[in-house]
Amino acid sequence: MGLKRKILELHKKREAVLKGGGDKAIEKQAAMGKMTARERIISLCDPDSFHEYDLFVEHEARDFDMDKKVLHGDGVIIGTGTIHGAPVCLFAQDFTVAGGSLGMMHARKITKIMDHALKMKVPLIGINDSGGARIQEGVNSLAGYGEIFFRNTLSSGVIPQISVILGPCAGGAVYSPALTDFVFVVDKISKMFITGPEVIKTVLGEEISMEDLGGARVHSEITGNAHFFAKSEAECFNQIKKLVSFIPWNNMKKAARVEPREPKPEYKISDIVPGDPRQPYDIRDVIKAIADDSDFFEIQEMWASNMVIGFGRMNGETIGFVANQPLVLAGVLDVDSSDKAARFIRFCNAFNIPIITLVDLPGYLPGIDQEHAGVIRHGAKVLYAYSEATVAKMTVILRKAYGGGYIAMSSRHLRADFVFAWPTAEIAVMGPEGAANIIFRKEIMESKDPDKTRKQKVKEYKEKFANPYVAAARGYVDSVIEPEETRKLLLHAIEVSGNKSVFLPNKKHGIPPF
Ligand code: HXC
Repeated sequence: MGLKRKILELHKKREAVLKGGGDKAIEKQAAMGKMTARERIISLCDPDSFHEYDLFVEHEARDFDMDKKVLHGDGVIIGTGTIHGAPVCLFAQDFTVAGGSLGMMHARKITKIMDHALKMKVPLIGINDSGGARIQEGVNSLAGYGEIFFRNTLSSGVIPQISVILGPCAGGAVYSPALTDFVFVVDKISKMFITGPEVIKTVLGEEISMEDLGGARVHSEITGNAHFFAKSEAECFNQIKKLVSFIPWNNMKKAARVEPREPKPEYKISDIVPGDPRQPYDIRDVIKAIADDSDFFEIQEMWASNMVIGFGRMNGETIGFVANQPLVLAGVLDVDSSDKAARFIRFCNAFNIPIITLVDLPGYLPGIDQEHAGVIRHGAKVLYAYSEATVAKMTVILRKAYGGGYIAMSSRHLRADFVFAWPTAEIAVMGPEGAANIIFRKEIMESKDPDKTRKQKVKEYKEKFANPYVAAARGYVDSVIEPEETRKLLLHAIEVSGNKSVFLPNKKHGIPPF
């Protein structure tokens, strides 16, 4: 056979595989409002940048008549491409081929691209759309998942790992996304659960739809498993592209710098925070008044919203912002917001992203629910994450910084590099009302006019402690600054921290309060 005929043969073979599960299955996929696996990858990567490998891989299953079945590409596409010029490794499960179920060769394709990503030190993006372990392949499917989980863990903190849930992701399959750094979901399309509605009905006798059990909203608002929620696949891909622009390729690099821009004039920092400490405001406006171009890319926006986390830039450099949100529960630390902040801090630290912390909180949330939900264990994660973080850490105390909240939110004592406080800052063991009631209880009770005495004592306490100057006098706060000076001082702090290095005791790894 001459070269021309051989090339024609190659084209034919390629065409057959590129049809995936065939026209009918592709129509069914489209009817569900879903793109095909290949369309997804092409939408995500820079034009003409995607290169596919293992196109001709075939499954090796023989039982249950599997030897008679052709499964093109074994239900998964793997390859490399670029996003905004950054190299990435990708896999996308093809639901049109045996429901994207994971058999041995399917898993080997995924682990091959995972190994490649780790070796080449580039981000890994996995698009999940699968019925889970391929039932006909038994323990080989389970082995496949185990191999994937192992690699997720090995790569953790070395390369960014991104999971996109664009269909079912059921059973143990959910644990690969859960081990990765960012999970993207799309309304009405994503479904994640350990045990499906059928099992729940059989075992518990309860009826629930897949959507209510583990739909995109559930994981964005209730469980916190998802980091980004989109209304369509196209919006989801734009979110992924934006995220990739903020993060580095690996833990040895810094994120790519972009042309710096001043914040937009509509975010005027001195007008955002009300003077009355009981009046709420949106902390995101403060971040936008500080960050380049007022561009703030929020993560887990719909979950634990009393804590705000996300990426912005300062002088073109990626920064992780961690901030209490006075609009929700006065910005308290609780079980979920502690988890949210701690994990993000660890991501920033692993990937050389400086952290700016904005503080305005009355402390940890009191109550039986929180105590029994483990606020001690979860709250400790914030202390651990800030203490172990060696990236540049800048803290600005805007108003309240009470009790454990003061210590936890990147205080000097957990080795913040720069701590600034606005003149409105109140740094104390607790709020003036509570404090006065405890330390002057006897005097208040025994006075002729307890109300008047209480007010007087609250005022006394406020004057003495509810300000930034006691902390500044001890050097716990480096500078008391005007709100207008915040960006300038932070830019300077980031600049002088460029070569920060810290010596830590030698250890295999710490034992964070997981
Ligand atoms: C083999 C599977 C499959 C699976 C789907 N298919 N899931 N084949 N193993 N796990 C096949 C179907 O037989 C069908 O093939 C095709 O994929 C499309 O599936 P449909 O059921 O027609 O699609 P749909 O109606 O959209 O329903 C999707 C679904 C459903 C909800 C995902 O297929 C389903 O419930 N699948 C089983 C889910 C599950 O329980 N998986 C195992 C979880 S346990 P044909 O040939 O008819 O087109 C697990 C353990 C992992 O994953 C542990 C790791 C630690």
